[in-house]
Amino acid sequence: MAIKNITVLGSGIMGHGIAQVSAMSGYSVVLRDIEQKFLDKAMEKIKWSLDKLVSKQKITKEQSEDIYSRIVPIVDLKEAVKNADMVIEAVPEIMDLKKKVYAELDEAADENVIFASNTSTLPITEIANTTTRPEKFIGIHFFNPPQLMKLVEVIPGEKTGKDILDITNNYVKSVNKQPVVCRKDVPGFIVNRLFIPLVHEACYVMGRFEYDKTEIDSAVKFKLGFPMGIFELADFTGMDVIHKATIEMHLRDKKVINPHPTIEKLFNEKKLGQKTGEGFYKYSDDKYERIPLSEDLANKCNPIQIVSNILNNAAWLVSNGASDIEEIEKAAQLGLGLKKPLFETAKEIGMSNIVNELNQLAQKHGKFYEPDPLLVSMK
Ligand SMILES: NC(=O)c1ccc[n+]([C@@H]2O[C@H](COP(=O)([O-])OP(=O)(O)OC[C@H]3O[C@@H](n4cnc5c(N)ncnc54)[C@H](O)[C@@H]3O)[C@@H](O)[C@H]2O)c1
Repeated sequence: MAIKNITVLGSGIMGHGIAQVSAMSGYSVVLRDIEQKFLDKAMEKIKWSLDKLVSKQKITKEQSEDIYSRIVPIVDLKEAVKNADMVIEAVPEIMDLKKKVYAELDEAADENVIFASNTSTLPITEIANTTTRPEKFIGIHFFNPPQLMKLVEVIPGEKTGKDILDITNNYVKSVNKQPVVCRKDVPGFIVNRLFIPLVHEACYVMGRFEYDKTEIDSAVKFKLGFPMGIFELADFTGMDVIHKATIEMHLRDKKVINPHPTIEKLFNEKKLGQKTGEGFYKYSDDKYERIPLSEDLANKCNPIQIVSNILNNAAWLVSNGASDIEEIEKAAQLGLGLKKPLFETAKEIGMSNIVNELNQLAQKHGKFYEPDPLLVSMK
């Protein structure tokens, strides 16, 4: 089955970007939202983004007009899915809302239509099982902004057909993205399973040692090869996103994350990061601003506890059949911007040092830290 027509549900941050990248690769796209005014705003953003590509001479004016004309905004659901081969759903991350949307969609769409959810943290299988077609249901996790980010995690649910996985991978490649399959529907999939717990762990490190935020952030940037510090990345992502992901992941698996109260505190105080002018750091205004980090600051912090946390989660993904080391490194590179492979950092530090660290942390702070058997076997 060749996909030609894509319908995107939800024209917000993610939906309008997914519609744009699909149209740029030649698909006929319908963009659907619940009110015309949301669609008008989304189409304006798409136009702005295409104009920018024209001004940078990445595409011609004619191409931009052609792409824009391939995206049709429609409010009526039945009309919006009439010709769809695949529906990509990007409505807000609220389980009850998603289930309601899929109930309506299941009625409206032809039985052969593939349903792909852009959810970041909700269980694919659970949503799929509320439809009459769980074998045609799949997770397709684009990263923000979809126009720029190369990674798309593809997550089959328990009943997803192999044909649907192949079609979805091909679609992702056709829009010039790189699919990484998360073979099991596990909380956080791959990238969020590495990233979200790490923010909490960095908070524990700050509380347990005398390190300043900028020292931890510098170590994460200069010793682990992150594009920025972990607190900086949290502020960039937004405490609302991190808080929501924390709740969903912890609800499903107590071992994946050890929630630190700071995240909830910042969230409740509306200190969401860059977008509200304050998160872990204060920002002078809401424009993008970098925190001054340096190698000197990095040398003041031993990041072994942070490295141990991310490696333990990476190892968990392998031990539980959700991924393998090569794919995890690819996801970390494309999704987190990591410049150095995780297992290379582990080698430099020494796997036995990491396992010892985790054992000591487990003795002191509980079972959460117990090293994954894969790390123990790599000592
Ligand atoms: N924002 C991110 O960084 C990010 C990254 C990856 C994945 N995601 C996931 O993508 C999904 C969408 O997130 P977002 O940030 O784009 O949200 P958003 O709030 O920016 O946009 C959601 C849009 O869905 C619309 N909507 C609500 N009900 C609808 C319905 N019944 N039919 C069609 N549209 C409807 C809303 O009006 C809104 O325009 C979520 O599942 C989220 O977890 C978000």
